[in-house]
Amino acid sequence: MEVHDRLGRPLANLRLSVTDRCNLRCQYCMPERDYVWLPRADILTFEEIETLVDVFTSLGTTKVRLTGGEPLLRKDLPDLLTLLARKPALTDLALTTNGILLADQVVALRAAGLPRITVSLDTLDPDRFKALTRFDSLDAVLTGLDQAANAGFDSVKIDTVVIRGVNDDELVPMLEHGRRVGAEVRFIEYMDVGGATRWSIDDVVSRQDMLQRLATHYGTVTPVDENTAAPADRFTLPDGTVFGIISSTTEPFCRQCDRSRLTADGGWYRCLYATDGTDLREPLRAGVGVEGLRSLIAETWRARDDRGAEDRLSSEDRSRLIPVETLQAQPHLEMHTRGG
Ligand code: GTP
Ligand code: 5AD
Ligand code: SF4
Repeated sequence: MEVHDRLGRPLANLRLSVTDRCNLRCQYCMPERDYVWLPRADILTFEEIETLVDVFTSLGTTKVRLTGGEPLLRKDLPDLLTLLARKPALTDLALTTNGILLADQVVALRAAGLPRITVSLDTLDPDRFKALTRFDSLDAVLTGLDQAANAGFDSVKIDTVVIRGVNDDELVPMLEHGRRVGAEVRFIEYMDVGGATRWSIDDVVSRQDMLQRLATHYGTVTPVDENTAAPADRFTLPDGTVFGIISSTTEPFCRQCDRSRLTADGGWYRCLYATDGTDLREPLRAGVGVEGLRSLIAETWRARDDRGAEDRLSSEDRSRLIPVETLQAQPHLEMHTRGG
């Protein structure tokens, strides 16, 4: 059975956060000194995750992306991938990582059946990397990315959040690097999501601006003619290189958004910007059973009318979204808990 929400959007795509912990502190995501972590006893086991994924696929979910925090910090992650990779209902399985632990784990991830991988990489300059993430680890990420590129994945992508005055002079070098390693680069507009407590509209480089800069360097940039629910719009350079732009800030894709998010402790959120979610852990552990979970998820999705990024675009108040004190009291509002 397929469920649709009030805007006709299917429950097709599940972002599954396997841990809220992270081994970097990216300026646009975790800029604060201290964070409140989810209690360990609340973190779903792989068995619990599998039960929930089966319920989601029975309602039309075909795509799962593992995220974090940093998903490779989750112990025995390949075991979860093995479970998920053999579900015929999942036609797309992917993982987004910051790449720090990738060199150690890439062989195991691939062997467990992971078909595609995305590595977050915002700069190719070691000092900048350190300033952006608080760790001097660019080499580890680049090595991990190289190894991923040679590990036989169906696709390897690079996610680059572009911030004015920080890395917006690296559009061309990043595309060149992507081409060298065989990875598709996607430039992401800086979003005012929970966690981005230092966000300002002045720091956003818009998709239009990025396209203009790339056209100045490369010549004609041609849009790829495709209609998908993916957030990235894709473009081709004159030499055939394909790249993407995710313009969630200036041109949101809410009308096509088929995504929901499950936090590592079983909180289910229907929008990146949603302030409240549905606790699936409690009913799961209380034994309501598959049918009970199924009706809860189906009913909740049918009532969905979220268009968070569009609402933000039309909001008069475009200061940062959530104050630090609120985030500390409600860590579920954080991007690193919600799965990036
Ligand atoms: P593909 O399936 O490979 O296209 O990946 P993806 O774009 O779905 O996944 P990825 O994890 O690479 O997401 C890229 C970026 O898109 C995220 O880091 C966010 O910046 C943005 N993004 C992801 N999900 C959402 C969402 O639900 N809403 C909005 N507005 N932006 C999102
Ligand atoms: N703006 C845009 N993307 C963000 N991410 C995290 N915070 C933000 C933000 N404020 C995304 C990045 C990163 C992924 C894990 O989460 O794409 O690569
Ligand atoms: Fe950076 Fe991702 Fe960690 Fe956030 S969760 S700090 S974006 S690596």
